[in-house]
Parts: sequence; structure tokens; C-alpha cells
Amino acid sequence: MSEKKAQLTIDGIDKTIVLPVYEGSTGPDVVDVRSLVGEGVFTYDPGFVSTAACDSEITYIDGGAGILLYRGYPIEQLAEHSTFLETCYLLLNGELPTEEENADFENGIRYHTMVDEQIHQFFKGFPRTAHPMAMLCGVVGALSAFYHDTLDADLPEHRMTAAHRVIAKMPTLAAMCYKHGVGQPFMYPQNDMTLSENFLHMMFSTPCEAPKVSPTLVKAMDTIFLLHADHEQNASTSTVRLAGSTGANPYACIASGIAALWGPAHGGANEAVLEMLDEIGDESRIEEYILKAKDKSDPFRLMGFGHRVYKNFDPRAKVMRGICDEVLAELGIENDPLFRIARKLEKIALEDEYFISKKLYPNVDFYSGIVLKAMGIPTSLFTVIFATGRTPGWIAHWNEMMSSEYKIGRPRQLYKGYTARDYPAK
Ligand code: ACO
Repeated sequence: MSEKKAQLTIDGIDKTIVLPVYEGSTGPDVVDVRSLVGEGVFTYDPGFVSTAACDSEITYIDGGAGILLYRGYPIEQLAEHSTFLETCYLLLNGELPTEEENADFENGIRYHTMVDEQIHQFFKGFPRTAHPMAMLCGVVGALSAFYHDTLDADLPEHRMTAAHRVIAKMPTLAAMCYKHGVGQPFMYPQNDMTLSENFLHMMFSTPCEAPKVSPTLVKAMDTIFLLHADHEQNASTSTVRLAGSTGANPYACIASGIAALWGPAHGGANEAVLEMLDEIGDESRIEEYILKAKDKSDPFRLMGFGHRVYKNFDPRAKVMRGICDEVLAELGIENDPLFRIARKLEKIALEDEYFISKKLYPNVDFYSGIVLKAMGIPTSLFTVIFATGRTPGWIAHWNEMMSSEYKIGRPRQLYKGYTARDYPAK
């Protein structure tokens, strides 16, 4: 029971309302406002910036201190010692797997990497010019048409099978989105490969040749997936939870998360970084763009700098920076004009008083955009890669919600429209 209390007095309500205050294991306390509806008032919080909509034990962020923990483990440690798949297990189950559990989990995922052959027909119905996110959103929602056997969200074993399926199939579908766009045959997954190696194989092999994927690139891909695996109650995860609160099936919920991620304000930032680097075009123009970014009358912002939550540094960006160096060196393209612009921009912004005083550091998207571009992944696929990485987070939050007591999500409003009026007489 909560010992802490908050008191609220509202003009027009002739009493002090006492509200319980709860403490989490760390982070800000929350004031329980659920009784307010009974008093005839709502709270007002557009964008839910001050509202905790659920209890969760999955991910913790302290933006001021630059901390991101998955199930208590710092993201830097997971990036160094874990793999994307092991991190998926951790997010879903709450603990790191034993060796045996890990082997079982990996086998379980391998077993589900193929998609029903009918899914190929879905892709064939899309124009070649379709945006990869449009295809991904559609085909992931369509998975619910194929897996009727495990759609009972009240059964833990059904939830786990759905979780395994969606984590396993997402890389396959992501690669299919690419192959369809470039008019190449779909490549079947190779289950003797790791998840990230398999993904790069399905992306870049053809039936005519299967280039050997370098371990540095596999590691980079795996780290990008791992760093994006969860980020607490962000817009797409909250969308998954809201859809899930109606009892919607897991594939429909994940499709709704993909739709929310598609927005440029959420998943589209690394794409915007590459567009900006292309627009700058030459090192001689960097200064001009720095001045534009600092000019209050110019809406331009340096893409890949600053973060809504991380106000000192983005811990994922530190990891990604190292990966970026390794990938550019491995591919021998440090001197490619685009990457030289990126490096110079990073250096100038890190030394510039405007960026230092506003705590605007390169974020994870700045480096992941560069790495993905260097690996030969087209910018239109960047958000699909983000979605593939974020899938375990979405499904872990959906599973957490479905395993606990939850209410259908139903926000309120401050109504400012007409009050009742009569339909005009004719
Ligand atoms: N370039 C230039 N100036 C900037 C930038 C930038 N990238 N970001 C913030 N500022 C300035 C603002 O103009 C503002 O200046 P002021 O105090 O003089 O008015 C100040 O820094 C604070 O900016 P806010 O907009 O209040 O910061 P907020 O937390 O709201 O925004 C955001 C964060 C949206 C990420 C912003 O930094 C931005 O637009 N960055 C570029 C886009 C980007 O990289 N987005 C990806 C984020 S990472 C992710 O989603 C995974």
C-alpha cells in the first residue's frame, strides 16, 4: 500500500481530493489519478508526456543521465556481450537464458523463419515502387490470416508461439520488402546461419550467387537490431499496447506498431540523416548548414543531432559510433565523400558552443544511418530495419500487458466543440 499521498483542490469541488502516490523501483513517482473521473474531472496531458499508462518491468530510461536498461542490464553491456537473439529472450522472459534455454530459444526461432508460401502472392500484388514500410505493415497484419492455431491472447503458450513467429519472420519479411522493390527473387532463410547473418544473406544473395558476408557487417547488423530492441513506452510501443488492450491479435498489434513507427517523427530519422548528407553534398558547404541549424528564423535542424529523452548523450550512439568506425574501415570507404561530410559534421557540431550548450549530441540515428548506407542498404529500407529490431520490444510489452490485469485504453478529451444544438428546420 502507498504511504505517500498527493492532495488536489479544484475550484468548484468543495473538498480536497487525496490521491495515492506510488514509487517504482527507480525513476519518478506517479500520482494515481484514477479516482478523479468519479469526481467529474479528467487530467489533461496531450501527448501523454506526464502520464504513466501502465506498470512495466521491461525497460528503464534515464534521459538526463544517459541510461538505458533492458531488464536492468545497461545497453552498453548487452551490446558488448550479448546478441540480438539473446536480448530478445531477455526482453520476453525477464532473465538472460542459460546455455540450454538459449539453444532451445534459438532453435525455436529457426523453426519459424520461413513464411507461408502464400505470402509471396501478397508481395506480388504490390507495385515495385511500393514503400517497404507499406508492404511490411500489410504483410505483418496478414500473418494473422495464416496462424489461427495460436491467436488466443489469453493463453501464455499461444502468446509465446506468436512471439517466436513474429521475431523469426520479421527479418525474412524485411528482406522480401527489399527484394520485391529491386525485382530479385526472394531468398529462403538459411537456418544454419545466425539471425543477422541470415538477414544479410536474404538481402544480398541471389539464386546465382551468395557472397560471403563479413563478420564485421554481421556484428554491425546484430548490434543495430539489439540497440533498437526496446525503448520503453515510445509511440509505436504505446500503439501496440493500445491495440492489444482491445484483445486484438498479436500480428494486428505489431502491424499497428509498424504503422506508428513509419511516421518521420519516430522511425524516419536515420533516413533523414542520409537525405541531409546528400543535400549538403560537399564538405565546403558544411559551415553553411551549421549556420542554418543555428539560425532561429530557419526551420532547418541538423538531422541526427539531439534527442527528446536523452539530454546528455544517447548511450546507443556511443556504441554505434564504434561500430560505424569498424564498418567504414572494413569496407575501406572512410574517404567516400558522403562519409567524410558525416565525420566533419560530427566533429564541428561536437566542438560548437551552440550544440554543446544545448546538449545536442549525435544520436543513434546519425551513426546507424551511416552504417546502413555503407552496408548497401537503401534508405527507404531503414525504417523496416528499425521495425525488425523493435519487434521483440513490441511483443514483450504486448505479452506483459496480456499477462497482467489491463483495461481497454480509452483516453478522454477536453471538448471544445459546439454544445447541443437543433438540426435546422427545412
Ligand atoms: N539542430 C539544431 N538545433 C536543434 C536541434 C538540431 N538537430 N535539435 C534541437 N535544437 C535546438 C532547438 O532549436 C531548441 O533551441 P532553443 O532552445 O533556442 O529554442 C533547443 O535545441 C531544444 O530543442 P527542442 O526542440 O526543445 O528539443 P526537443 O527535445 O523537443 O527535440 C528532437 C528533440 C526532436 C530530437 C530535436 O533535437 C530534433 O529535431 N533533432 C533532429 C531530428 C532527429 O535527429 N531526430 C531523431 C531523434 S532520435 C530517435 O527518434 C531515435
